[in-house]
Amino acid sequence: MLNGKTILITGASSGIGLAMAELLIKNGARVLGLCRSIEKLPSEIIPISCDLSEPSEIETAFGKIETLDILVNNAGLAHLSPITTGDPTQWEAMWKINVQGLSLCSQKALKLFPKTGGHILNISSMSGHRVPPSGGFYAATKFAVRAITEALRAELKGVGNATRVSSISPGFVDTPLLDIYFEGREQQLKQTRETMTMLTPDDIAKTALHILSAPKGVEINDVQLRSNDQAI
Ligand SMILES: NC(=O)c1ccc[n+]([C@@H]2O[C@H](COP(=O)([O-])OP(=O)(O)OC[C@H]3O[C@@H](n4cnc5c(N)ncnc54)[C@H](OP(=O)(O)O)[C@@H]3O)[C@@H](O)[C@H]2O)c1
Repeated sequence: MLNGKTILITGASSGIGLAMAELLIKNGARVLGLCRSIEKLPSEIIPISCDLSEPSEIETAFGKIETLDILVNNAGLAHLSPITTGDPTQWEAMWKINVQGLSLCSQKALKLFPKTGGHILNISSMSGHRVPPSGGFYAATKFAVRAITEALRAELKGVGNATRVSSISPGFVDTPLLDIYFEGREQQLKQTRETMTMLTPDDIAKTALHILSAPKGVEINDVQLRSNDQAI
């Protein structure tokens, strides 16, 4: 389905990114995995070491890529960091990766895409559509991802660039990200895991495959998905 396509996935060393990389490779893609802990990447993923919170590292990382058909902006960080009491250093860390890193990777990828257009898929969140009580600054970063996705689409259409722009907005997915998000609320996470069947990284990977293998004239803009057990 994706034969001959080169796909860069940020945050391919864990959770959703790793599941997407494995499924897209099975479907014929050549996958480059960008992250800090490249030692965690399975051998079939081509490693690109980069800390997305450092713009100079993004510049260097993209300098190593010769061709690219698809960018999946997946890497992300989630702290429970309320507006009233949150730690601004956590806000900055989330902003740098979830928003600034995603935007800079998109800008760099556009320069590598074929003239006929590429595809950018942003892994956003249901927290970019509604703010749960614990949403805090994380939700703000995902609302920004939604705005950036729309802005980029409009900019590209404005200049006749055929690159497609899509996003996936998942609810809870059982990955290591939740251990950070629930830091200090471990009992709540344990209870959530016991009482709720969360989405799996594979559920998101299958959605990504559907979006990325849509016919050339079809641009799937956003897929919102939650576990059937998730109330909000
Ligand atoms: N899990 C959920 O419930 C959920 C729900 C909705 C949306 N999402 C979104 O899904 C995406 C993936 O999350 P996940 O749940 O799969 O998380 P995860 O298992 O914690 O994986 C996060 C990935 O991001 C990479 N990353 C983190 N900081 C980085 C940095 N500074 N530079 C480069 N890479 C960095 C990590 O790689 P290294 O540590 O190796 O750098 C890792 O591969 C995120 O954007 C998240 O917001 C998750």
